[in-house]
Amino acid sequence: MQTRMELVLDAHLPATAIMPTRLHEGMRYAALGGGKRVRALLSYAAGEFCGAPLEHIDVPAASVEMIHAFSLVHDDLPCMDDDDLRRGKPTTHKVYGDAMALLVGDALQSLAFQIISQDKLLNNATQKLQMLHILALASGSRGMAGGQAIDIESIGIPLTREELEQMHIHKTGALIRAAALLGAYSADAPDEEKVKAIDHFAKAIGLAFQVVDDILDAEADTQTLGKTAGKDARNNKSTYVTILGLSAAKQLASELHANAMAALSFYGREADCLRQLANFITQRSF
Ligand code: IPE
Ligand code: IPE
Ligand code: MG
Ligand code: MG
Ligand code: MG
Repeated sequence: MQTRMELVLDAHLPATAIMPTRLHEGMRYAALGGGKRVRALLSYAAGEFCGAPLEHIDVPAASVEMIHAFSLVHDDLPCMDDDDLRRGKPTTHKVYGDAMALLVGDALQSLAFQIISQDKLLNNATQKLQMLHILALASGSRGMAGGQAIDIESIGIPLTREELEQMHIHKTGALIRAAALLGAYSADAPDEEKVKAIDHFAKAIGLAFQVVDDILDAEADTQTLGKTAGKDARNNKSTYVTILGLSAAKQLASELHANAMAALSFYGREADCLRQLANFITQRSF
């Protein structure tokens, strides 16, 4: 599936031969050749669960990965987390400069919406509009960008547990939830109960994802992560590790995992891909 996503992204990213070549190179550098592709896998698993043909999930899944790649390019900029390493490579601004990295992020964001709007396999306009709406909400001020704003404003100011949860639900949870919903809506007429179950599942696992990211930042090494370890502490961020401590953060991740699993309890083997993803998200080491 990761290979499939790589090919879909490759097919939809502008060729480096096309002007402006450096921008297109940067977009490909940021979006291709790395990442766990958890969001795409979630779209595929949710889509499969709802009976969508695999090829109908390709573009919605790629659009979420593009938004995600854009968010990482901006997250790593010196004015944000100031990171040099991402997915085992120098960050986009280290290679292309800050101004170009800013534009790489902008252009990836626009392309995400463009590819859904022009997808020939999704021939139902209402279906596309719904996807565009979900993606816009999840990326904007009430989603990822909003969560990032809370993150930046709270540097050096310890957040309460509730504030921290709000930050994580927005900066990371929102796009993960969108990935699952876009997968579900890749099916022509997804069963409403299934969509509700996916939404509950994704809410829990989206928060768990960032709790685990915080734990790994504190516990794992740079080589394994492919990004600088210990960065949250160095940047004075409030995280689940600083607020709750490592062992309570791990306990929370496993509670959220259990909540996610409970959302699928009415379903049998058709939900196994979603379950496997939940296991990976909470047990991962990178
Ligand atoms: C990192 O996301 C940023 C967060 C939202 C925590 P991932 O851990 O999914 O990054 P990649 O795509 O695998 O590099
Ligand atoms: C980033 O959170 C979330 C988004 C990019 C929206 P982090 O700042 O914790 O992500 P990493 O640890 O740099 O991947
Ligand atoms: Mg950050
Ligand atoms: Mg960061
Ligand atoms: Mg992090």
